[in-house]
Amino acid sequence: MLFLCEIFITRYCSICMKKSYQSLEGNSTNDMKQVTHRNLITRLILSGLILLLTYSTAFAQGDPVTGKTLFNTNCAACHNLDKKMTGPALRGVEARLSEDQGLDRDWINAWIRNSSAVIKSGDAYAVKIYAENNNAAMTAMPQLSDEDIDNILAYTAQEKAAPSGGGEVATTQTSGGQNEGGISNELILGALAILFMLLALGLIMVNKTLRRFANANNIDIPEEGQRKSLWKAFIKNQFLLLVITIFFLLTSAYYVFGYFMQIGVDQGYQPVQPIHFSHKIHAGDNKIDCKFCHSSARVSKTSGIPSLNVCMNCHKSIYEYTGETTAEYTKEFYDAEIMKLYKAVGWSDEDQQYTGETQPIKWVRIHNLPDFVYYNHSQHVTVAGLECQTCHGPVETMEEVYQYSPLTMVWCLDCHKKTNLKTKGNAYYTKIHEELAKKYGVDKFTVKDNGGLECGKCHY
Ligand code: HEC
Ligand code: HEC
Ligand code: HEC
Ligand code: HEC
Ligand code: HEC
Ligand code: HEC
Repeated sequence: MLFLCEIFITRYCSICMKKSYQSLEGNSTNDMKQVTHRNLITRLILSGLILLLTYSTAFAQGDPVTGKTLFNTNCAACHNLDKKMTGPALRGVEARLSEDQGLDRDWINAWIRNSSAVIKSGDAYAVKIYAENNNAAMTAMPQLSDEDIDNILAYTAQEKAAPSGGGEVATTQTSGGQNEGGISNELILGALAILFMLLALGLIMVNKTLRRFANANNIDIPEEGQRKSLWKAFIKNQFLLLVITIFFLLTSAYYVFGYFMQIGVDQGYQPVQPIHFSHKIHAGDNKIDCKFCHSSARVSKTSGIPSLNVCMNCHKSIYEYTGETTAEYTKEFYDAEIMKLYKAVGWSDEDQQYTGETQPIKWVRIHNLPDFVYYNHSQHVTVAGLECQTCHGPVETMEEVYQYSPLTMVWCLDCHKKTNLKTKGNAYYTKIHEELAKKYGVDKFTVKDNGGLECGKCHY
């Protein structure tokens, strides 16, 4: 009883405390300063905007941020900014080509869109670098627009940044919530309760032995009438007894119910992975499409985890981490994780070749339905057109993936009851659609109307 109350109180209090801390922090900005500085700030922003406008119209310069993404998807497989890979290092390439070779933007555009055409045309410099790079051909990329190339070159024109120290930008790390502290708190409380029980038991036993001693030595122990009457009064007060019994029953029912509903539900599960692979960095900061790595989600039952060869498409040239860091996740930490990848696939960064010694990575599976449930990704991703995030949550903000949804039967059914079938432009449904329209006389159908609640659809 005491134990249950304690759990309740500690949980409740910690929530309250967190709330009040947050509101304290929110108020700490200095209102006075804001008022006096507002005028100045507006002026500064305005003049900044005007400057920016004139500047951007004078030189049609690219955007290095977009350029970085384009570079990572199109060029990073062969080029690095500061290191020779399959192709030359590309930092400041435009300035270098125009100063040393007198080559202009038109040449670069033509080269990037189709380098072999430039080589074939007999262009002296093109022929020379082609030979210098062991006749390695660069992929033709006719799909890149002038603006794309502007952006890429703006990215390559950036100065090399000094290695950024820790604690620069605090990333908000969403955690699974349930795993955090809750269990260990309960464990500690449980241990304390057991300790108290043992103590009480010990006291009772000491009491008994003392009494036996007293009896054996014929010593009289005066009975305490007072204590007895208090206890009796308590028993007699039926109202108090009733209230306490009800309270006890309710709290225990609450916890027992909660406990049973938790069995087999792993919402928030976030295991430690063999390589700290950050979805925030890959899918968020670098905007790599989910399906680039989880390519089978579109066409098959499972989404699958990409093989390490997929990683090496990019990581042959991305050998270090240059993005934002925090005190917890430093550049050294991330670089070491990339080294783990190299070790696993047996890639020697110095020699730029595979050593042949591989050590497969065993990712820890997070989402796992019981074997008696049939779930199919392509049906939900391709046929129903659902976003990954509907079920997996904001994965692109997760430093490490955790299970976002409960994956219970009720969860599946709830969505099937309220989600409409995507009948427009879905050849799969033309016939079923007409039949259903006749049957229900309406135009929109939920998955349920199509039999999405039938046991056999999800259970073998
Ligand atoms: C498949 C590998 C590959 C990819 C992908 C690739 N390149 Fe190249 N690139 C090369 C190679 C190899 C060379 C050296 C010339 C040669 O051998 O054809 C080169 C040369 C260059 C040069 C001339 C460099 C110099 O120092 O003269 C530029 C500029 C260039 N690449 C830009 C790009 C850009 C921009 C992208 C992405 C849009 C890109 N490359 C994608 C392989 C690649
Ligand atoms: C660069 C490759 C890559 C990209 C891009 C990527 N993932 Fe992943 N994903 C992985 C790897 C590797 C794992 C296994 C390690 C882990 O769990 O963190 C994984 C694991 C997962 C898992 C957990 C699987 C399990 O064990 O149950 C989910 C869910 C997931 N990814 C969803 C997404 C979504 C949604 C996106 C797009 C927003 C995305 N991924 C983008 C590589 C990628
Ligand atoms: C499409 C290109 C691409 C693919 C594929 C890719 N990465 Fe990355 N990876 C990046 C980029 C870009 C960065 C960030 C580099 C930076 O900011 O300097 C990065 C950073 C990392 C880091 C350091 C940050 C972190 O997440 O801890 C690790 C480790 C890493 N990748 C592992 C992997 C693994 C394992 C795979 C395969 C499952 C993979 N990468 C696939 C592009 C890719
Ligand atoms: C309708 C909900 C839903 C949507 C939408 C969805 N998933 Fe899943 N995903 C699940 C469920 C449920 C599982 C567990 C499957 C199992 O255990 O058999 C899962 C498992 C996974 C896994 C673990 C490996 C596997 O295949 O079992 C990965 C990776 C994954 N999803 C990625 C994705 C990606 C990427 C997308 C978007 C292209 C996506 N999911 C869209 C519900 C969904
Ligand atoms: C976010 C909403 C959503 C969730 C969550 C969801 N589904 Fe679905 N499901 C759909 C939609 C929409 C369709 C209809 C797809 C189509 O057009 O055929 C569907 C169709 C299905 C079908 C085919 C039904 C038929 O009539 O042929 C099965 C089987 C299925 N889902 C299983 C599951 C299971 C198992 C889960 C839970 C692990 C689940 N779904 C969770 C939205 C969802
Ligand atoms: C949309 C898919 C779907 C449909 C339809 C469905 N189930 Fe389930 N069912 C599940 C999933 C997912 C689980 C696993 C839940 C978990 O692991 O917590 C499950 C679990 C169960 C369990 C095991 C008990 C449990 O909660 O783990 C039973 C029994 C069951 N279902 C019976 C049925 C019956 C009977 C029907 C038909 C009336 C039905 N199911 C229809 C998805 C479905």
